[in-house]
Amino acid sequence: MSDFTEFKAKAKAVWSDFASMENFTGVAAPRLVKFANVSAQQKVLDVAGGTGVVALTAARTGAKVTGSDLTPELVKRAKENNETVNSEIEFYEADVEDLPFDDESFDVVLSQFGHMFAPRPDIAVQEMLRVLRPGGTIAFSTWPPELFMGSFFKINGKYGPPPPEGVQSPVLWGNVDIISERLGSHVSEITFDRDKLVMPGLSVQHVRSVFETTAGPLKKMVQAFASDPEKLTNLRNEIDDAIFNYFEDNFLRMDYLMTRAKKV
Ligand SMILES: C[S@@+](CC[C@H](N)C(=O)[O-])C[C@H]1O[C@@H](n2cnc3c(N)ncnc32)[C@H](O)[C@@H]1O
Repeated sequence: MSDFTEFKAKAKAVWSDFASMENFTGVAAPRLVKFANVSAQQKVLDVAGGTGVVALTAARTGAKVTGSDLTPELVKRAKENNETVNSEIEFYEADVEDLPFDDESFDVVLSQFGHMFAPRPDIAVQEMLRVLRPGGTIAFSTWPPELFMGSFFKINGKYGPPPPEGVQSPVLWGNVDIISERLGSHVSEITFDRDKLVMPGLSVQHVRSVFETTAGPLKKMVQAFASDPEKLTNLRNEIDDAIFNYFEDNFLRMDYLMTRAKKV
């Protein structure tokens, strides 16, 4: 197995229970759909779409939507959500670095906190642009490195196993200069905007305990450090400090970046 095959097998395991977060990320979905100007009859692809929160929201505009994600458990849940809302979205298990769709077959390609987790950003963006028609819109939401989620990923990286050689940090997708460089001359009219997601919690520690049971990488580390209480305490203290900076009025504020551009 190449490092990336193993990396993706691990990613699937890490994300397998992300369905419990769908109502949290679901709140941001309408914002991305509006930002991308999705409209009726457009062919829309959502990549790394998890349980389909963006796809389901986009479909409400009358667009013809396709959803995709790497993790089988989430695709299964997306199909269940699709049945629940009686929508006609097709969901596929698919790696954003190797999309099973024809060239130039979509008017809009979206990703919410998703494609940023592909280990090779150049390949992910090349695939997203390949399946997009010229003049079509690529739009995504990502976590900036300097804000809460950036700190959270940094702490996870410090305590977790080192990534294989060549894997880029997901939060580089939250830096406007790096985004502009990665999209390069393949796009025009790059536009950025910001919004926020909030996670309710009764205290810093209460919010952290939610992450410990829902955020895949942290959950795995907390389990692994059960036999090393000092390490577990240090990890928890660092996360509490990061949450403290953005905790107000019984919620954690998580600002994110949105990017939109047109394929030339
Ligand atoms: C934070 S979740 C976001 C899910 C969804 N977009 C949402 O907003 O709820 C990250 C998602 O990226 C997916 N993912 C990670 N690596 C991927 C890859 N290489 N190709 C496709 N999806 C991937 C995971 O399975 C997971 O569903």
